[in-house]
Amino acid sequence: MTVLKGSFSPPGDKSISHRLALMAILASGECEVSNCLPGEDVQSSLKALKTLGGHYETSDFIHVKISGLGGKTVDNAQIDCGNSGTTMRLISGILAGCSGKFVLDGDNSLRKRPMERIAIPLRKMSAQIETQEGRCPITINGQPLYGITYDLPVASAQLKSAVLLAGVQASGKTCVGEPTISRDHTERMLKQMGAQIVQKNQNWIVEQSKLVLPDKFYVPGDPSSAAFFLCAAAILKDSAVISRNTLLNSTRTGFIEILKRMNVDIQINKKMDQPEPVGDIQVNYSSNIVSTEIHANEIPLLVDEVPILSLIATQAKGKTVFKGVQELRIKETDRLEAISTQLNKMGAHIEAGKDTLTIFGPTPLKSVAKLESFGDHRIAMTLRLANLLTESALEIAHEECVAISYPDFHKTLDHLRGS
Ligand code: S3P
Repeated sequence: MTVLKGSFSPPGDKSISHRLALMAILASGECEVSNCLPGEDVQSSLKALKTLGGHYETSDFIHVKISGLGGKTVDNAQIDCGNSGTTMRLISGILAGCSGKFVLDGDNSLRKRPMERIAIPLRKMSAQIETQEGRCPITINGQPLYGITYDLPVASAQLKSAVLLAGVQASGKTCVGEPTISRDHTERMLKQMGAQIVQKNQNWIVEQSKLVLPDKFYVPGDPSSAAFFLCAAAILKDSAVISRNTLLNSTRTGFIEILKRMNVDIQINKKMDQPEPVGDIQVNYSSNIVSTEIHANEIPLLVDEVPILSLIATQAKGKTVFKGVQELRIKETDRLEAISTQLNKMGAHIEAGKDTLTIFGPTPLKSVAKLESFGDHRIAMTLRLANLLTESALEIAHEECVAISYPDFHKTLDHLRGS
């Protein structure tokens, strides 16, 4: 069986990289970004900044010099958000308050994803925003905005961010309440860029503020990318891997708590605390992995890690249940359907319910000739790592989609397996 050994540095965090590119539409100043994610998704955000009249310079998309627009966009633009839900949802909140007419579109996957959820609160702020029966293309006619109090109907950091980024331009105060806590990068970065923003329990209150980019910004390694190799190491005999300089923000590390509950041998070595906690994560092969129940309020803290945690669960003793995972059905693909159908072809026993995912383990995984990623980067990476348990040739349709969030995924895999 394949052994994974050694250390690796995951690429820059996708959520933070997006926000640097997108918040530069509102912020003035210049920022030298290091360890930016060079993935296709973040390039969609950087290109959007450029289309709107902003500027960036880079030779590798890892070191990027960004010039902010201070909210002064061109007055007419068509923006291609590619595959990126984060680009489309966050930029909607930003452009709702900029003067100009904007059309936002994306690829076939993005055209299937719900967008009315952002349009509803933005309209309450007096934005002129239209979807096509709830999907993109979205048209926005930028307007002066008014602050609102809004309780999010779903725990979504993208939705929360869209309202906060509109709120920082709106007159009065904007208060956003979360049903359960989700990633807080927008809030941290708004504060860092000079916004008046405070937290009261599960509410965020932002006031109209001018934003200024920091001179320099180091993007920590993406825990959602690191999770793939960390989880694979736990189930591959004799493996031991260390993910260096990884973001340890607790709104992102829910998967670490789940691994601990499952008896995985995992150690954290925090090296820095501000502006984000960062450190190394080590996982060793663990021979006695057990099942666990993951509650709905834990899901936002590990929403992108459900596919790879499902793979571990196939090797855990007992029944693992993810509850409240209905949002997984509207990601880049229907991830509950993709995980269950594809891993079941390999011999897993997974049942996808309307808002639950139940995995019965342990089940040995067997070789199959071909699986489908549905063009979803996190499904493709999960299947490639599942294949290590069988050591046979596997074709994964549309596997090139890993470049959306982890362009060096295969290089890192080769490095850890010593080939
Ligand atoms: C993200 C939020 C999450 C996550 C996505 C990135 C973000 O989406 O799945 O990969 O950067 O805010 P939702 O807000 O739709 O849950």
